[in-house]
Amino acid sequence: MSLSEKSIAIVYHSPYGHTAKVASFIAQGAQQAGVQVHSMNIEQIDWDILDRSDAIVFGCPTYMGNLTSGLKLFMEQSSKRWLARAWQGKVAAGFTNGGGLSGDKLAVLQQINLFAMQHGMLWAGLPMMPTGRSGQDLNRMSSFLGLMTQSDNAPVEITPPQGDLNTALWFGEYLGLLLNKFK
Ligand SMILES: Cc1cc2nc3c(=O)[nH]c(=O)nc-3n(C[C@H](O)[C@H](O)[C@H](O)COP(=O)(O)O)c2cc1C
Repeated sequence: MSLSEKSIAIVYHSPYGHTAKVASFIAQGAQQAGVQVHSMNIEQIDWDILDRSDAIVFGCPTYMGNLTSGLKLFMEQSSKRWLARAWQGKVAAGFTNGGGLSGDKLAVLQQINLFAMQHGMLWAGLPMMPTGRSGQDLNRMSSFLGLMTQSDNAPVEITPPQGDLNTALWFGEYLGLLLNKFK
């Protein structure tokens, strides 16, 4: 990694692979913006990489309108860093995948946002106007706090729909371009 190259870590929990698929599109988008990406499943966290990253993107499925316990455990495990203000000033963003159209996904993004604010991070939302409601459309969930995708509880091979994945790609590229604006 060159000294000027920015890096993004993506931390996700994904028991059935949909959220992981979304994470991979965010990663692709960030790479397109020339940013180094470290993608981490919640079961294999590299804390040193997180400490060195310029941005951390957090994601998990929506479970009963909440975070999954996997992401929550990770959050609690970060408490020493919270105390030391170790992540203060890093960019943060969030994403969640749900089976339902609403499914109360907003509550998950709000919890991720609060967590990032507790750490003193700089929140980056999803500044993209929705383009429609079909599976091909961008930001069809009309979410601005972070990225929402939806999988209908269908197999990971066919969901989330392409529009959601393209939104994830766009989000990753946006985050990469944003980081590149920082000295
Ligand atoms: C225990 C449980 C609770 C769930 N609750 C919700 C919910 O509140 N809202 C929603 O939209 N989907 C809900 N779902 C569907 C999951 O969000 C969906 O299957 C998940 O995003 C798949 O992610 P993954 O493939 O990354 O594991 C729930 C699924 C489970 C297993």
